[in-house]
Amino acid sequence: MNDLARIKRRYRQFADTECKGYSDIYYGLALAVAEDDEVVGFIAEMPVIQPNLFFASIQLLTGPDSVPNTGSELRAFVHRRGREIGDVMRSRRTQTNEVGRCAVLLPALPSGPLALLEVGASAGLCLLLDQFYYELGSTQIGDASSPVHLRCASAGPVPLPSVVPQIVWRRGLDIDPIDVHDDDAIRWLLACVYPDHRERRRRLEAAIGLARAQPPVVSAGDLVDDLPAVLSEVPNDAQLVVFHSAVLTYVKFDRRQAFAGVLAEASKKRDIVWLSNEPPGVVPEVAALVPPQSELRYLLARTLFTNGQRRDELLALAHAHGADLTWL
Ligand SMILES: C[S@@+](CC[C@H](N)C(=O)[O-])C[C@H]1O[C@@H](n2cnc3c(N)ncnc32)[C@H](O)[C@@H]1O
Repeated sequence: MNDLARIKRRYRQFADTECKGYSDIYYGLALAVAEDDEVVGFIAEMPVIQPNLFFASIQLLTGPDSVPNTGSELRAFVHRRGREIGDVMRSRRTQTNEVGRCAVLLPALPSGPLALLEVGASAGLCLLLDQFYYELGSTQIGDASSPVHLRCASAGPVPLPSVVPQIVWRRGLDIDPIDVHDDDAIRWLLACVYPDHRERRRRLEAAIGLARAQPPVVSAGDLVDDLPAVLSEVPNDAQLVVFHSAVLTYVKFDRRQAFAGVLAEASKKRDIVWLSNEPPGVVPEVAALVPPQSELRYLLARTLFTNGQRRDELLALAHAHGADLTWL
């Protein structure tokens, strides 16, 4: 049984740090949970008490338009359908594939032709970044007829490309890839988007549509153990870019170091550009470059590996889902 006071703290903290100003509905619900002994008692019985998992499990059952709106509606829903919520919470873990992050990655890409390798690719939707339309600040880039429109507010001297670089090879690697044709997995992916984030849901659905027409290849495997085999398949006549967003943060410190070690080793045969878009503190060499007193945002970094040596640059501070970026 989990400690009730700890759960209340966790939900309050979730409201303040992840929902305030970003999702009114989860902000209100998370604060309501933190005051509700009965709902907290229900959550305490679960193996994982994570707010995103609890709310996504409810949304899976209700759909985004009928999620309980108030604390009392939430308590009544837990009364009525607690067994089903519990089944979902016991059998699933939160999952995301946030195409909005491509708007943050785009200005960091070298000019093409590129071979793109994404680790922790989920359904591989970010591998389709050359099929999206971007509004970065006041600049438009990409195919205006694309069903996926990404809007990203920008500040600072963002080095905007005039076109999306040509991508000649792309591959994902994920410990637990999502098959875009698996309706149940896709329903869960959508349930993990906050219900009031309509634009995020729309663009996710549109990206899934693109991927269903031409599924990106995402191999099942670990980002350290299985990386050398995938690297050996990358064609030689393109600049290799290895990238990830919101992935290394889920991996233990020694495995992050081992991942960088695999890239360093592979760079003895070819240059590698490594783009990392992760919360602060995840890549220590990048954390050391953060200006003092900067806000706690995702850090977009570019590391060039040549001949086993690395050169790190911190490029930008970014919104976790790609809504804005500040170029440094
Ligand atoms: C939060 S999701 C982010 C997905 C995607 N990068 C995005 O930005 O939308 C994290 C992903 O990392 C994958 N992952 C976690 N540990 C991994 C590992 N050791 N090797 C490969 N993938 C891993 C998970 O399966 C999941 O798909």
